[in-house]
Amino acid sequence: MAGRIPQAFIDDLISRVDIVDLIDGFVPLKKAGKDYKACCPFHGEKTPSFTVSQEKQFYHCFGCGVHGTAIGFLIEYDQLSFVEAVEQLANKCGLTVPTDNFAASTPAPREGPDLYELLEKANDFYQQQLKTHADSKTAVDYLKNRGLDGEIAKRFGVGLAPEGWDNLMQHFGDPSNSNEKINEALLTAGLLSKNEKGRMYDRFRGRIMFPIHDYRGRMVGFGGRIINEGEPKYLNSPETPVFHKGSELYGLYLARTSIRDTGHSLVVEGYMDVVALAQNGIDFSVATLGTATTKAHLDRLFRHAPEVIFCFDGDRAGKEAAWRALENALPAMQDGRQASFMFLPDGEDPDTLVRKVGKEEFTRLIESAKPLPEYLIDSLSAQADLTRMDGSARLAKLAQPLLERLPQGVLRQLIKQRIEQLVGTQISIAAAAPTGRAPSRREISRGTAQQGKTDIQQAIGYLLQHPELAARVNDTNTLRDSELPGFGMLADIAESIQQSPAPNTAALLERFRERKEFPRLESLASWNHIYDDEAAAEAFDVLLNNFATNIDTARLNQLLEKAKESLTSDEKEEIKKLLHTDINSD
Ligand code: UTP
Ligand code: MN
Repeated sequence: MAGRIPQAFIDDLISRVDIVDLIDGFVPLKKAGKDYKACCPFHGEKTPSFTVSQEKQFYHCFGCGVHGTAIGFLIEYDQLSFVEAVEQLANKCGLTVPTDNFAASTPAPREGPDLYELLEKANDFYQQQLKTHADSKTAVDYLKNRGLDGEIAKRFGVGLAPEGWDNLMQHFGDPSNSNEKINEALLTAGLLSKNEKGRMYDRFRGRIMFPIHDYRGRMVGFGGRIINEGEPKYLNSPETPVFHKGSELYGLYLARTSIRDTGHSLVVEGYMDVVALAQNGIDFSVATLGTATTKAHLDRLFRHAPEVIFCFDGDRAGKEAAWRALENALPAMQDGRQASFMFLPDGEDPDTLVRKVGKEEFTRLIESAKPLPEYLIDSLSAQADLTRMDGSARLAKLAQPLLERLPQGVLRQLIKQRIEQLVGTQISIAAAAPTGRAPSRREISRGTAQQGKTDIQQAIGYLLQHPELAARVNDTNTLRDSELPGFGMLADIAESIQQSPAPNTAALLERFRERKEFPRLESLASWNHIYDDEAAAEAFDVLLNNFATNIDTARLNQLLEKAKESLTSDEKEEIKKLLHTDINSD
């Protein structure tokens, strides 16, 4: 599928995108010598070892070993498919991905106006209405009553969808004037609804509007709260091509800097909670959009900071929601990540509580949130009577599926040990508990590069990092015919450059994405950043010379093998003696 996007297009794309700009949009980069640096978005760290090379158009983390091109970055960071990543980059550059043979495997590019733009314009309209509409006073008073000032309302882009069936439609044009394309687009964007008779009308009416941005600040949807009483209290945008509740978090875009600076995010349940907390100086909170917290939410949050604190009401519904959040959080709990749970007094939500007790007291509550391991163990223990043997067994049984959800690592090991202790201190046969000893402590860090490289690996590395070296590879056929490991790959890369110069390392790499060796090529592309062009050329020449010798030697061995078949055994012995040191030493 990916192979059908013409290579020339990928080359062109990679040469137009600047990986530094691209990554800087997600992870602010600082210039460090020739390269750019940041704390690695793929693992928790305090000192930056994530490096982006503008020259190579390639990123590499010396801490955890991740690396790749601009396309690779989007695949990893945004969890996009290859095709999606290409499309996204193409969009950025105003290019259209060529569709020959290709349309069938991807959704056809949408016709009509851009949904993000449309949503943005709708929000401008709603915000305008909050200032100018005849009913705006009611809405503004409502917000003031809830303790929000104009500045916060502005920061969150709060607006007003006035009463009436077609305010927004009218704003975008006269519907009777066959404005079908726009209306269809508004419908797709979730801004209009359609009745059984096919009539369209404004989805949001008589509501305070909270625009929802995705994590990179694009407007993707709305939550609308009824002013004063009414049903439903909140109306959200439906799922649309740009809005997915299971992965978006309300407030994340605005909170991201504070989340990074404080090292934690706070997950609450409601729009108003996020806004009220921000009004009171707690600006690292986000809300799920009327859904349970998913692993996708958490992976997203953990990219910004290593700790997530969940905030729930203290009532039964809150406890149930918390437990669901815990279950969903477990698979995301790689070592280095922390989650905690805080429960509010009965009848309070973060909005009411922070207004009552203020920032400092609320912060104290956040700080005293219960760590996930403790919450897990306490909750399970409460369900098992550990003074009874069958109670201990019950604890072990309850814990098992939860432990299984945790990724391999130290945390999993520690929680498991703690459960065993609990079960074991109550019953004397703990050692025989069905736990299967032997901690399989998997190495978490993928290790830094710089391990010994074979000659051929080094040569491929140099060529990937300095594509101009391809001119020095004269006889690619000889390389390939030698059938020595890696030589064919070197020949292929050299030929590819000779046929069409590669604009940079990243573009060159992308030509080989489909090959099974791709991951190894990627790591070779990030190996050893220190060589300058001249030193690399010298080293490369030495390696090429070695290869010529290797090939000759291999060929000689081959011929000798062949010759040996027609020799007497005495003659074979003799030849072995004569040649052994020369030929078989390597
Ligand atoms: P709550 O009912 O706790 O509302 O719903 P709230 O946030 O305290 O709202 P206020 O303070 O009365 O304004 C929490 C969240 O559940 C979703 C919304 O995301 C809301 O923020 N919800 C609630 C809906 O989607 N629809 C509803 O009708 C109610
Ligand atoms: Mn509330």
